[in-house]
Amino acid sequence: MAKKLFIKTYGCQMNVYDSERMASLLALHGYEAAPCADDADLVVLNTCHIREKAAEKVYSELGRMRLLRERRAAEAGQGPAIAVAGCVAQAEGEAILERAPFVDAVVGPQSYHRLPELLARRVRAEGGRVETGFPVESKFDALPEAKAAGFSAFLAVQEGCDKFCTFCVVPYTRGAEESRPAAAILAEARRLVAGGAREVTLLGQNVNAYHGEGPDGRNWGLARLIRELADIDRLWRIRYTTSHPADMDGDLIQAHGDVPQLMPYLHLPVQSGDDAVLRAMNRRYTRGDYRRIVDRLRSVRPDLALSTDVIVGFPGEDDAAFEATLRLVREVGFAQSYSFKYSPRPGTPAALLPRQVREGVKAERLAVLQGLLQEQADAFNRATVGRTVPVLLERPGRHAGQLVGKSPWLQAVHVRADAGRLGDMVQVAVDAALPHSLAGRLALSAEAPS
Ligand code: SAH
Ligand code: SF4
Ligand code: F3S
Repeated sequence: MAKKLFIKTYGCQMNVYDSERMASLLALHGYEAAPCADDADLVVLNTCHIREKAAEKVYSELGRMRLLRERRAAEAGQGPAIAVAGCVAQAEGEAILERAPFVDAVVGPQSYHRLPELLARRVRAEGGRVETGFPVESKFDALPEAKAAGFSAFLAVQEGCDKFCTFCVVPYTRGAEESRPAAAILAEARRLVAGGAREVTLLGQNVNAYHGEGPDGRNWGLARLIRELADIDRLWRIRYTTSHPADMDGDLIQAHGDVPQLMPYLHLPVQSGDDAVLRAMNRRYTRGDYRRIVDRLRSVRPDLALSTDVIVGFPGEDDAAFEATLRLVREVGFAQSYSFKYSPRPGTPAALLPRQVREGVKAERLAVLQGLLQEQADAFNRATVGRTVPVLLERPGRHAGQLVGKSPWLQAVHVRADAGRLGDMVQVAVDAALPHSLAGRLALSAEAPS
């Protein structure tokens, strides 16, 4: 009988992608997906270390897993195996076993392909439960392809980060920047499209730093890769995330102007609008640089919408610096955003900086900033009402006879349509903006985005 696997995923899209690949790998070892942890034989927590709250969630989940395991052991003689994967596994390694000794395997993001072996060792009680090295073989080559997961698929093109922003754990948990060869990415994209995908989101911690080897032996940047992907028949939409402002080169900006498949929506984290804070963060751009990049993008693609990440309360951020961030947000205007209180992370330089900001001040600033960003998001969504927009229908909605898809600007759009239309690109007349989505009705349908 097949063994049951439950993977719980925290953190970024890279973790979502990795979870899919782990599931494909474990399927080869007889595991099939279970809907919850309750009757699983193996539970994998794919964790995130980016902020303290995210990391602490793992330990409360592990507390629940211990209880589940004890209950199942009492009822059936054996509870599920528990593995901790992802960035907390990488950052904390052995320390996880000290706090949660019942954990069977701790496996960092570069070592997922060793998971079956680690679990087998558990069965044979050989120990060696922590695997957090950065092996020479690439995990991309060692893991099986994820199965095409729906009409919109993730595709990792690079991993790791060499930027070392002073607040960030990613360079430590994910290691040095590594770009996959373009041929492997193009082949994976073709397979995804053959499996039904109509939209691909290129993933990387720093995706526009992509510099993979091209089939011609030359170094390809992200723009070149996107242009080749745009030649794949029936691949209607291309997106990429997360990009760094310092790596938005002229080629990539130009691609937004002349590759119609490249969607007019870009996540471009700014973090702060104050030059001294940006310098202390080691972000490698100024607020002026950021503004100029946005202006150039909008001049080649006037309907481009932006989303961003902002940190408030970075050490040394005074009222004037915070005001500068608010001003930048007003000047640029964001369709969507993620904002956070600065969280000091062990091992990062900013955690040791003087002039740490009090929690109360961080909370106040976050509330003010989020108020402004929410207003902008609402205004952006309201501006879509009354327009007709192309929507890729991706999944059934919560109500019968309803499908959900995405607009070019990544807005979820609900529409009454027959399930047979899943995977179609349709024109939707938008009637209303709800808190987290738009609602509309089918207008003319189109084969491909116009
Ligand atoms: N590679 C992306 C960011 C990845 S982390 C980039 O360069 O922008 C996702 C977001 O988490 C970051 O953009 C940042 O806003 C936030 N973040 C990272 N470390 C943080 C910390 N220590 N405290 C608060 N927010 C943090
Ligand atoms: Fe972290 Fe900076 Fe790298 Fe983004 S660019 S992952 S914030 S170090
Ligand atoms: Fe979190 Fe690791 Fe992603 S720290 S944000 S899961 S790269």
